[in-house]
Amino acid sequence: MSTFIALAVIVAAIFTHARPTPHPLTLVSRAFDDSDIYANWPTYDELPLHPSFPTRAAWGAWGENDQLGALNHIRNTTILAAKNEIQLGRPRAGYQDDVITLNTQISTQFDGLKHFPYSTNNEQATYQFYNDLITFDDIVSAEGTTVLGIQNAAQKGIAGRGVLLDWAGWMESKNTTFDVFSNTTISPSELDEVAAWQGLNASSFFKPGDFLVVRTGFTQQYNALPAHEQAILPYRADADATFLGMEASGDLLRWLWAKKLSLVGSDNPAFEVLPNTGDVIDGDMRSLHQVFIGGWGMSIVEYLNLEELAKTCHELGRYSFFFTIQNLNVVGGIASPPNALAIV
Ligand SMILES: *[C@@H]1O[C@H](CO)[C@@H](O)[C@H](O)[C@H]1NC(C)=O
Ligand SMILES: *[C@@H]1O[C@H](CO)[C@@H](O)[C@H](O)[C@H]1NC(C)=O
Ligand SMILES: *[C@@H]1O[C@H](CO)[C@@H](O)[C@H](O)[C@H]1NC(C)=O
Ligand SMILES: *[C@@H]1O[C@H](CO)[C@@H](O)[C@H](O)[C@H]1NC(C)=O
Repeated sequence: MSTFIALAVIVAAIFTHARPTPHPLTLVSRAFDDSDIYANWPTYDELPLHPSFPTRAAWGAWGENDQLGALNHIRNTTILAAKNEIQLGRPRAGYQDDVITLNTQISTQFDGLKHFPYSTNNEQATYQFYNDLITFDDIVSAEGTTVLGIQNAAQKGIAGRGVLLDWAGWMESKNTTFDVFSNTTISPSELDEVAAWQGLNASSFFKPGDFLVVRTGFTQQYNALPAHEQAILPYRADADATFLGMEASGDLLRWLWAKKLSLVGSDNPAFEVLPNTGDVIDGDMRSLHQVFIGGWGMSIVEYLNLEELAKTCHELGRYSFFFTIQNLNVVGGIASPPNALAIV
């Protein structure tokens, strides 16, 4: 009994350490239950739920102590519906990456919720993380913290419906050349056009819990580089280290929020354009990494090899599929190889 009490005191201490009381999250957290998980669901315009939270953060949308974030969109019913995406039983090679390295920021990667901080005034000194559960000090301290670690995603288990938007294929169809090593941006209206080119209506095709994957053409162009150019690519000076990607804008955030996605992914280094020049969202300089990971609790999967998947989707004229991700169950971990698999 006394052990239990001691434990409870320690747990309480961890939370009070991160959370000044009364915390605004306690006041504004959304009330909902399993019978209607979207009861009182905030619109994009209602974000953030409290003026003291960072720009467009969704803190409290899944409850004040939630550590799963956007993965909450994946329910039993979502997975059951997604099994209908398996029609041929074809998991094509290529959607996975068979290089496993202990540096989880190399090669195909699933960025967990400890990966990126966020803060209302955008200052490093006040860094917070998703749902304001931990501080920057908690992460860099010798003891570290397991809160928001990738074990949460691993233990939930990720499976559901994936949707591919092949931006690169659409550009090729128009004979428009593009350079994935430039700071060219992809806008939400282009994603709408890509969907229409694929025969989909992006406003109605997505279902809650979907995993959006965007093919930017990075893998294709990178693989086509001579070996010596691949070797020197990481050594470009910061300002010149440009990579094509999604624009960081309020328009893009609004477009994504409406779709209730559980995850986003792409074949490029960061989903968003690099370097991060601090695009302006509601007058603040913010990156998509900040808003997705720190604000919405939505992980990003990067450097996916989408070449075979895109080929298969075009061949079948079908752009949704069943997918699974089983990241490493590293308690307190920050990122992981996703071991992503698509089945059509
Ligand atoms: C949904 O899945 C969870 C976890 O596997 C399980 O605990 C729960 O009972 C399931 N709910 C229903 C309605 O089947
Ligand atoms: C793209 O180029 C090909 C080959 O030159 C040509 O057949 C096709 O009509 C062009 N498509 C468009 C949309 O311009
Ligand atoms: C894109 O890169 C060019 C130089 O390559 C630079 O002049 C321009 O400001 C950059 N644009 C943005 C939005 O960062
Ligand atoms: C796409 O779907 C939306 C929402 O259902 C609808 O309002 C719109 O008219 C559709 N667009 C087209 C081109 O069919």
